[in-house]
Amino acid sequence: MLLMPMAGAYRVPERGVVYQIMVDRFYDGNASNNEPFYDPAHRNYRLYWGGDIEGLIEKLDYIQSLGVSMIWVSPLNDNIDRMAGGSAPYHGYWTRDYKRIEEHFGTWNDFRRLVEEAKKRGICVIVDYVPNHSNPATKGEFGALYDNGTFVTDYYRDAKNATVNPITGIRENIYHHNGNIFTWSGIPLKYANLFGLADFNQLNPWVDSYLTEGAMLFTGSGACGLRIDAVKHMELGWLEVFYLRLYSKKPLFIYGEYYSLSPEKSDDLYGLYRYSNVSPVLNIPIREDIVRTFGFVGSLETLSRTLEDYYSFFVYPNKQLNFLDSHDLVRFLNEAKRDDAVERFHMALALTMTLPGIPVIYYGDESYLVSKDGKGDPYNRPMMVFDNTTEAAGIIRTLAELRRTNDALAFGDFRTVYANYSVWAFERTFGSHRLLAVMNKGSPVSLTIDLDWPDGTYRDALYGAEMKVSGGKASLELGRNSFYVFHIEREQEMPLIGSLTPYAAQPGQEILIAGAGFGNGGKVFIGGVEAKVLSWNSTEILVEVPKVKTENAWLDVVVKTGGKASEPAKLRYYSGNDIPALIAINATNLTGRLWIRGNLSELAEPRPLLRSSTDYYFTVAPLPNGTAFSVGLYTGSSWGELEPLNVTLYGFVNSTVVVLRDEPSAVETETAPAMPTTTIAHMPVGENPLPYLLAAILLLGAALIIWKKRG
Ligand code: NOJ
Ligand code: CA
Ligand code: CA
Repeated sequence: MLLMPMAGAYRVPERGVVYQIMVDRFYDGNASNNEPFYDPAHRNYRLYWGGDIEGLIEKLDYIQSLGVSMIWVSPLNDNIDRMAGGSAPYHGYWTRDYKRIEEHFGTWNDFRRLVEEAKKRGICVIVDYVPNHSNPATKGEFGALYDNGTFVTDYYRDAKNATVNPITGIRENIYHHNGNIFTWSGIPLKYANLFGLADFNQLNPWVDSYLTEGAMLFTGSGACGLRIDAVKHMELGWLEVFYLRLYSKKPLFIYGEYYSLSPEKSDDLYGLYRYSNVSPVLNIPIREDIVRTFGFVGSLETLSRTLEDYYSFFVYPNKQLNFLDSHDLVRFLNEAKRDDAVERFHMALALTMTLPGIPVIYYGDESYLVSKDGKGDPYNRPMMVFDNTTEAAGIIRTLAELRRTNDALAFGDFRTVYANYSVWAFERTFGSHRLLAVMNKGSPVSLTIDLDWPDGTYRDALYGAEMKVSGGKASLELGRNSFYVFHIEREQEMPLIGSLTPYAAQPGQEILIAGAGFGNGGKVFIGGVEAKVLSWNSTEILVEVPKVKTENAWLDVVVKTGGKASEPAKLRYYSGNDIPALIAINATNLTGRLWIRGNLSELAEPRPLLRSSTDYYFTVAPLPNGTAFSVGLYTGSSWGELEPLNVTLYGFVNSTVVVLRDEPSAVETETAPAMPTTTIAHMPVGENPLPYLLAAILLLGAALIIWKKRG
């Protein structure tokens, strides 16, 4: 069996910590690239302040000193060369060329050097990538788009050749031309301009390859992952194909920003959690609850229930990302209204690092960075202050180090042992690794709780506090605003899978299985089929996903070693050769909220349909090109039960496929046109309008003849 050298904690995202950096505000490593739109005094928050990739490289030792293993850098692509609405694109979210690096930040060579230098320190680079939109449509450079320096179009020129898609009713070309998002749901959410930003039509084949090639320039240059901006505003089906194409080169850690401040049942995020779970997201909906409970008032017991509920949505709660501060929200220390805000910040920071999920530390959290000039965007992006000697830095470093060695932090479950208004104890277990986080935000208390840990005295990782366990009872003293972390690491006897990276895959793709007790070698089965093992050690196995004959969404992954088999882990399986396909159904006789579910892995879990203005229901799904399939129709909301309508429709995968009542013949399917030539689709049995339509035409014809004769 091939033995792999330990590749560093960063290969398994759950064993690491992410450090989020706004490049312009971190460190100026090259003063020659600062102009134009530069404010050397750092007073105007909407201008460039000088930070760049060379600055990042210079500060890698500092970043490493915090114990983190991944850096998420703000978008590096070339942004517009003009001001728009009084702001320069210092933040990087106003791209004009997805094949080039912004000249204020550096060059592709600088980026590759960053990756190399970071790697030497056990750190990998995750790049923020923005495929939803380019730049402001009505100001600045008006949505100007370049392909490695060659002008392609801008929003106005593009509008001239835009047409209405007969299926979706969307006005589109390279961009969508449907105004700004005013209704934050349904079609406008995905097909209109977000805050006036020129919205891409990802189903346009040129846009599709351009955005994919742009992302591959980063992953091909060594980035280990991407943070995808504004996933709420794109079709999930397109994103799934986009991710699969990137994953097909190597295992990557890709996560999305789905902006939603609370878990709303009306959000399509709820449907995404409940059914698809195809890609990790930032845990934005729980962040405000955490800040309120620690920064203002609120019950820890309530918080514990909110969080347990939230994490239960996910197949892989441990691969979602927790954060306290970000570039879009008011920093905790700017928001908290308490004399003990710093103590509470320490508690909230420790919580963020011990909950299920990968912690994200926003630059300057370790040095209590705040803005005196204001609160949210852009004031949550002050110039970095470097200080790794603080208590906050100590918490980050200690818990980042513990995360490398204690798999309960990386992969453990989540169980509240005790909770009241001001005290909360939760336990996390992964095989023989255990962890107990205990906190108290009220008056000092002596706490005794049920805990089935071996008898003994345990020492907290953060402050050295003691906990005595005897006969299944744990007792400890908790001061005001205290947070303690107790842990156990024992040898794991049975093979145990903690995670798959990524957990969505198609045949031929490599996935990294992480866990414990894997021994020196063995076998891996995916959906019952033996997978080719590429490397193996006791905590990580790299395999190639085999082709599996299945119609299921999730396949079992099992590790067998030394005569022992692991419990199955779940892999979201795709058939392979997937394209983003627009699936549509004629809506003439259909109403309400509809879903489809079909006989391919990609369609095994229900997908919600949107109703177009042109009398279709549609969705975009990743589907294996050139394959026949059938779907059933369902009705219901994403939070209720779905009811089958007992209707089966058939189609053949193409970029646009209208599913029909009749099974398509093999000949028809070979030459299926990209756009349907007929709009007749399935009606519930007995409601096909065709006979009526023909009768109406005949009647009309007869009436016309009579009328003509009379005239
Ligand atoms: C979300 C990003 O986090 C935010 O900073 C940005 O302005 C918008 N998406 C638009 O790209
Ligand atoms: Ca600079
Ligand atoms: Ca969009």
